[in-house]
Amino acid sequence: MGCKRISFFGLGYVGLCTALCFSSKNFTSIGVDIDQEKVRTIKEGSSPIYEPSLHTLLQEFLDRGTFHCSTNPCEAVMESDISFITVGTPSLPDGSIDLAYIRQVARDIGEALKEKSSYHLVVVKSTVPPGTTEKTIKPIIETHSGKQCGTDFGLCMNPEFLREGSALHDTLNPDRIVIGEHDKKSGDILETLYRDFYEEKIPSIIRTNLPTAELIKYASNAFLAAKISFINTIANICEKTPDVDVTTVAKAMGLDKRISPHFLNAGLGYGGSCFPKDLKALIAYSKKLGYTPELLEAVENVNKTQPYKVVQLCKNFLGSLKNKKIAILGLAFKPNTDDIREARSIPIINKLLKEGANVTAYDPAAMRNAKSIFKNKIEYASSATECIKNADCGILATEWEEFKKLTPEDFIQNMKQPILIDGRRIYNPEEFGKKLKFAAIGLGN
Ligand code: UGA
Repeated sequence: MGCKRISFFGLGYVGLCTALCFSSKNFTSIGVDIDQEKVRTIKEGSSPIYEPSLHTLLQEFLDRGTFHCSTNPCEAVMESDISFITVGTPSLPDGSIDLAYIRQVARDIGEALKEKSSYHLVVVKSTVPPGTTEKTIKPIIETHSGKQCGTDFGLCMNPEFLREGSALHDTLNPDRIVIGEHDKKSGDILETLYRDFYEEKIPSIIRTNLPTAELIKYASNAFLAAKISFINTIANICEKTPDVDVTTVAKAMGLDKRISPHFLNAGLGYGGSCFPKDLKALIAYSKKLGYTPELLEAVENVNKTQPYKVVQLCKNFLGSLKNKKIAILGLAFKPNTDDIREARSIPIINKLLKEGANVTAYDPAAMRNAKSIFKNKIEYASSATECIKNADCGILATEWEEFKKLTPEDFIQNMKQPILIDGRRIYNPEEFGKKLKFAAIGLGN
């Protein structure tokens, strides 16, 4: 049995979810964050983020004492054997990554290590451009601790592949674990930790150097984003081809094992805190090296215009949108989260407002976050039915389960005129097309 006490620096999605997963396997996790309000909320047993089951686990492990959190980095380093860095790496205006939080945590860990006599492993989980762990993080820790990497402390880069909305499931059932190691001892300790964690369910482990691990994360997200922009491109071709439906095309393509059915859902494009940011960062990184990654730029461009397709479909039915009531079903960047960062609903609503439409929106979880963006520019409904009431057109923007339960009759009975645009392909076009004026992404008419 290896290390049992782990600290997590940064209590966002990755930090909090991973910490609680370790607690669920009887490790002791310590969460650290500089945000005092966030730490206070978590200590009280409330999760600052919406993630299925997270709240229950948090309360259970706080009660059991296998998870606690603080704002004191030194205490966390002293009370643990391994520290994961899980802070955010936001975009700068030129698309490159802001390493300010990473630098601060590296300094804090360095200062704490100065006081610690035993060996400690530092693991970078935040998404950082190739070279960051070796050239930025390592020297900061060495300078502030006065200790040597590889001898006094270890260093790994261990990218994260969990998705918001299924973070706990993904952490407990990953497809692979990537361990970028500064030296063999560091890699061995991290591998042992994961072997203890997963026991007989251990997934494939790839051991490599630090910059390769860093690039694996960007390449994986860029590939998934490319798959989405690819199927959206096919969807846009399907839409102009009578009687062709992209969902059937994607289903058949996905049966080819080389393609796989995952991330082939055509729709409004990708949003969230990861794909848009990581694409931008990889493009910026590549350009700095003197190579323009044209394919990645095309992936981004397709994604930028994709949300406007539903506005055009809306105009095809209504002509001018001036003073028309448009109902937006779904605001979050995907279901099972309250996160609206880079959500496709944002450019859609802004465009509708620009066209003079009156927008009413509803989301099962993201209303609070949406209000902070749209303020009083739009109306907020408290249910799907209230949202579509007297609307001239409905746009399905996020594929929440509760929207899948809506029937053609729900739209007919509540709307001023039953026009529905399915931006996420959740409704059966035959059934809905018969009873409503219906259009959808990738559906040739
Ligand atoms: C993504 C990756 O899937 C994770 O592996 C990675 O760890 C994470 O980024 C990260 O870098 O932290 P996430 O952003 O939580 O996870 O969400 P996804 O489920 O990947 O969805 C991203 C966006 O793509 C959503 O807006 C979703 O609606 C869209 N999408 C996804 C499609 O439009 N079509 C699809 O077929 C799949």
